[in-house]
Amino acid sequence: MSGVDKPDWNPETYAKFRGLRLRPALDLLMQAGALPKGAIVDLGCGDGAAAGALRQRYPRHELIGLDASPAMLSRAKGYARLIEADVATWQAEAPLALIYSNAALHWLPDHAALMPRLAGMLVPGGVLAVQMPRQYQAPSHRFLRDIAAALYPDRFDAAGFEPPVQPAVTYWEMLSPLGQVDAWETEYVQHLEPAADMHPVHAFTQSTAMRPFVEKMSVDEQAIFGAAYDKALASAHPLLADGGALMPFRRVFFVLKV
Ligand SMILES: C[S@@+](CC[C@H](N)C(=O)[O-])C[C@H]1O[C@@H](n2cnc3c(N)ncnc32)[C@H](O)[C@@H]1O
Repeated sequence: MSGVDKPDWNPETYAKFRGLRLRPALDLLMQAGALPKGAIVDLGCGDGAAAGALRQRYPRHELIGLDASPAMLSRAKGYARLIEADVATWQAEAPLALIYSNAALHWLPDHAALMPRLAGMLVPGGVLAVQMPRQYQAPSHRFLRDIAAALYPDRFDAAGFEPPVQPAVTYWEMLSPLGQVDAWETEYVQHLEPAADMHPVHAFTQSTAMRPFVEKMSVDEQAIFGAAYDKALASAHPLLADGGALMPFRRVFFVLKV
């Protein structure tokens, strides 16, 4: 995701759910523990939602924000330095004390190669702390694949889908040869506010999980797709009396100390 050959992220729609999205970032940070000397990189830092908490927790460490999206980086405040780069090809200039990544590495494939490569950029005693959504079988994400494949089979193949994020136990097994691992999963019961013109779950996913689908559709196709998604969501997530909806959201966490 270079931000050059694909439509960029939309910081405004992403920021609408800042509170719900910050909670797992803080839950991850709480487990990162004491650090050796060295810089911290917030990998896939987005608009800098976690920067303040990282700075407060580790005031003596240089804090670097890294992201592939120019739009997100233009909003990112609170870092000593920003790097525009693709995690897939990025290599740290010097060994790091902490690589922290909240809700970003699920956009990259082949975690069996990626995570050990990131761990290899740490100083001895350094920490790799990662949180990723694991929501692929939930209606919010399954409907996107199924509806896109039903409407536009020339571009989408739901049957061939391989989830990029594995259960927490897989990361424990993958990383325990490299150091001490703590891995867990949490399902957050998110209460989404009513949204204008769309189902509340649609409003939540439109800035993230929907992006790879709509970027392959014309504007007219996007409208048809969005309407079918709203209809399917209405039965899986009935609206509450306040017009909002409940969206259980599963997230995988791990902290590796090398
Ligand atoms: C859901 S946002 C999370 C942002 C931030 N970490 C937070 O907690 O709010 C995902 C971010 O990952 C970035 N991202 C996705 N794939 C990337 C890649 N291959 N290299 C660098 N950044 C990437 C996106 O540009 C986006 O800003």
